[in-house]
Amino acid sequence: MKNLMIATAATVALMASVTTTAQAADGQKTFQSACFACHGTGAAGAPMIGHKDAWGPRIAKGIATLEKHALHGFKGKKGVMPAKGGRSDLSDADVKAAVAYMVSKAK
Ligand code: HEC
Repeated sequence: MKNLMIATAATVALMASVTTTAQAADGQKTFQSACFACHGTGAAGAPMIGHKDAWGPRIAKGIATLEKHALHGFKGKKGVMPAKGGRSDLSDADVKAAVAYMVSKAK
């Protein structure tokens, strides 16, 4: 009986933690799963995360512009940023959180 109660408590705790992660837009997680392929490596001409020189002039355009370009796509001098990084399954909040994460790493 005691084991059963411990198992039940563990299951409830696990379910609670899964729900929290699904609800909160986690910029770092989204970045790693959807943006890293280009922004972690510089592939396709993408500005690499953590590179202040690459991000400075972009951040100067304003976060709203960066969010718009990340959500709807953007063709610049370096290459093409696909809408939502090609991950149409992501919510707008996920993409904005990933933008905020990359911007925070460029400061
Ligand atoms: C297939 C490669 C690729 C993926 C995946 C990708 N990007 Fe990009 N991204 C680019 C490229 C290339 C540029 C630079 C375009 C240019 O300036 O010429 C860019 C530029 C950007 C910019 C700057 C836009 C601007 O106005 O200067 C933001 C913000 C951005 N990406 C966010 C994201 C986010 C968030 C994700 C993940 C959800 C993501 N990207 C995934 C290729 C990619």
